[in-house]
Amino acid sequence: MRISIFGMGYVGAVSSACFAELGHEVVGVDLNPQKLEAIAAGRSPVVEAGVAERIAKAHADGRVRATQDAAMAVATTDLSLVCVGTPSNAKGELSLGAVDAVVGEIGRAIAKKDGSHTLVLRSTVVPGTTEDRVAPALEHASGRTLGQGLELAFNPEFLREGSAVRDFYAPPFTLAGSASPGGAEQVRRVYEGVEAPFHAVSCRAAESVKFLSNAFHAVKIVFANESGALLKDLGVDAREALELFCKDRSLNISSAYLKPGGAFGGSCLPKEIRAFMALAGDRNVAMPMIENVMASNVRQKERAFEIVAKHGRGRVALFGLAFKPGTDDLRESPYVDLAERLLGKGYEIAIYDEALEVGRLMGANREFIEREIPHLDELLVRDPKRVLEGADVLVVAHAPASVIDLIAEHHGGRPIIDLSGVPALRRIEGASYEGLSW
Ligand SMILES: NC(=O)c1ccc[n+]([C@@H]2O[C@H](COP(=O)([O-])OP(=O)(O)OC[C@H]3O[C@@H](n4cnc5c(N)ncnc54)[C@H](O)[C@@H]3O)[C@@H](O)[C@H]2O)c1
Repeated sequence: MRISIFGMGYVGAVSSACFAELGHEVVGVDLNPQKLEAIAAGRSPVVEAGVAERIAKAHADGRVRATQDAAMAVATTDLSLVCVGTPSNAKGELSLGAVDAVVGEIGRAIAKKDGSHTLVLRSTVVPGTTEDRVAPALEHASGRTLGQGLELAFNPEFLREGSAVRDFYAPPFTLAGSASPGGAEQVRRVYEGVEAPFHAVSCRAAESVKFLSNAFHAVKIVFANESGALLKDLGVDAREALELFCKDRSLNISSAYLKPGGAFGGSCLPKEIRAFMALAGDRNVAMPMIENVMASNVRQKERAFEIVAKHGRGRVALFGLAFKPGTDDLRESPYVDLAERLLGKGYEIAIYDEALEVGRLMGANREFIEREIPHLDELLVRDPKRVLEGADVLVVAHAPASVIDLIAEHHGGRPIIDLSGVPALRRIEGASYEGLSW
């Protein structure tokens, strides 16, 4: 393909070198004359392993050139990759000045062109930017409608400086968020030759994944560093402990616990976070992120309550009370918290939990629930059909498939609030469905 790449910074330079190596014809566009001179002389505008030799080779083969003339670059290519910077402004937002300027230039150049053209945004932008800001600006400047000789996609860049070329050829996946019917297909064509799973998704999903990834990487670094500070103070080699920690690929380094849903609870997580914090407090070790984990968990419990409260002070049917299905452990269950809040605010509730029989609760579990909800036995109903009767809102923390079927059959158009992401609930027809974080 003939590709114009706007922005010859780290992302643009690496993309130029690698797309040219894949056999595309690349035109680099930048405002900075020194960067253009570098490309024109077959040199890399940035220092990054593997880029200089690839630019030199592509230049010698006539597959890369550079220009300041955006209109010419668009006129002589089929697709433009936008890789300009989106630095922070004073409020912490991403500055979109360069993106806006380049989108306008590309649009005006498309207006003067006969053939179709595709714009692929690679600069990092917040979810919604491609569809809500770039799409209308591009349509306005080009005088075309998306899908009619004009395609638009968002393709996030996941490379890391220092290993960018390696990352380019072995990405975890390629994401193409389509803002127009043929957007993703154009991205697929550009990446032919890169062996990686290809996902055609919505623009908002692709934009979100870029943010989630960087936020998660930052959270991982802070987790390791905060833990390291405490472990060092305790005389433990944090590198050894974290190396062992990472060997658990089923729970620690895995997708476990990465599904948005109810707050955490149960007999271990809250207790042990508190103990970790008490230890850090005794030793004066600051751990601002882990310290705030409990506050964040409380916020998630409040969100669950707020969603139920939106429906007014009616009668609530709550399915699932234990902190997870298949156990009768009620200790620090977020759903006990929800039931308590509802009762405290004067709601009437009926609860169904398959695994729960008040008479069989004992020990610390019994003491906990007697303290939190003293008359639980009056609220627990053994027959799920009876829980549905007379309820105004149906709240599902967890429930067996048979009970989900019952809800599907008897919801009668009442609101269904899904606290843990039960796929079958979302598919129920005729109900007003709302998920906790979706
Ligand atoms: N650097 C990384 O490791 C990395 C990784 C993934 C994503 N990103 C994202 O990719 C984008 C680019 O990052 P970068 O590090 O390559 O930025 P950079 O600052 O190194 O380069 C941006 C380039 O855009 C050029 N530019 C600005 N306005 C222009 C215009 N109107 N026309 C043409 N060129 C223009 C600048 O002169 C500069 O050369 C950012 O949104 C960034 O967040 C960066």
